[in-house]
Amino acid sequence: MKYTEPMLRDGALKDKVAVVTGGGSGLGKAMTKYFLELGAKVVITSRNLEKLKTTARELEEETGGEVFLVSCDVRNWDEVEAMKQATLERFGKIDILVNNAAGNFIAPTERLTHTAFDAVLDIVLKGTKNCTLSIGKHWIEQKSAGTVLNIVTTYSWTGSAYVVPSACAKAGVLAMTRSLAVEWAKYGIRFNAIAPGPFPTKGAWDRLLPGDLQEKFDMRKRVPLRRVGEHQELANLAAYLVSDYSAYMNGEVVTIDGGEWLQGAGEFNMLEQIPAEMWDMLEAMIKAKKSG
Ligand code: HXC
Ligand code: NAP
Repeated sequence: MKYTEPMLRDGALKDKVAVVTGGGSGLGKAMTKYFLELGAKVVITSRNLEKLKTTARELEEETGGEVFLVSCDVRNWDEVEAMKQATLERFGKIDILVNNAAGNFIAPTERLTHTAFDAVLDIVLKGTKNCTLSIGKHWIEQKSAGTVLNIVTTYSWTGSAYVVPSACAKAGVLAMTRSLAVEWAKYGIRFNAIAPGPFPTKGAWDRLLPGDLQEKFDMRKRVPLRRVGEHQELANLAAYLVSDYSAYMNGEVVTIDGGEWLQGAGEFNMLEQIPAEMWDMLEAMIKAKKSG
């Protein structure tokens, strides 16, 4: 058994219909692939129709599953409503919504125009709100259960310099996750979130580690486990959280980052750099001070 292997039993998502925003690339594509392997029908959406077509073809061939693609900018309410309608016409129902679409780039905040700030806020927070409200109202009207999985980040709660619009938006998505987990539980709608650490994808790496920043800031060194994430391990967690196996999980944010954010947070975590042979001397120094 390895963490790069699929985890859930065959058919774990059989007959479920899942909408994955941003499902044409990166982590959205990885989750889509695994959901298909587990028997779900998956709707992938993003702004780039050609990319969606290529992904849909590739994943259908690989998995034998059924992918429906809808071009939809999640910032636009009318496009989200149309995406929902198209999905219902095709599959008759929606069981799962994964709010995965995101926009982000590194920049000193004072260099941002107000519209550049909005570009990220609108994709992440407004986009998540649009999809959640549109599909959530449908579930409530139809008296059907549903589950929402939001993809956030660990800086949703720590904040982060140089990605301030993303940090603000992801914090909002986390607040939405926890708020609606309580408010809409009475309708049978569950909300959970995943906070990934570094999982290399082209979309994120091109915008967050451009040029030689990848070599300069080796992400593996930030992680106590000294590696980045594998897409399958995130897909495993996502599949569990949208499946009925996690029926009693609601309002949770699950961090999958190899301990990255805690390494940055613990006051004395820098002592990791002390060589083992120095500890005898340090202990002696500390004990010598005891009586003083
Ligand atoms: C300063 C910038 C900029 C930059 C864009 N802008 N890039 N400003 N520095 N590097 C400004 C533009 O000049 C413009 O300003 C405004 O932002 C909007 O840019 P557009 O290109 O017109 O917007 P749009 O086509 O809507 O594209 C949105 C985007 C883009 C967010 C800017 O990067 C995108 O499409 N991203 C989608 C995929 C993505 O970001 N994936 C990474 C997710 S990773 P004006 O003034 O003209 O309006 C993630 C978390 C990772 O979320 C955590 C890792 C651990
Ligand atoms: P990615 O491949 O760039 O994924 C982002 C997706 O969002 C793209 O498919 C993009 O497609 C779509 N998208 C962007 N703007 C959109 C819009 N307005 N409407 C609809 N779709 C839109 O990057 P990723 O790394 O896989 O990121 C996936 C998720 O994981 C994001 O929520 C990100 O914040 C989160 N995350 C990633 C990491 C990581 O290390 N990779 C870490 C923490 C969190 P189009 O451009 O075609 O629209």
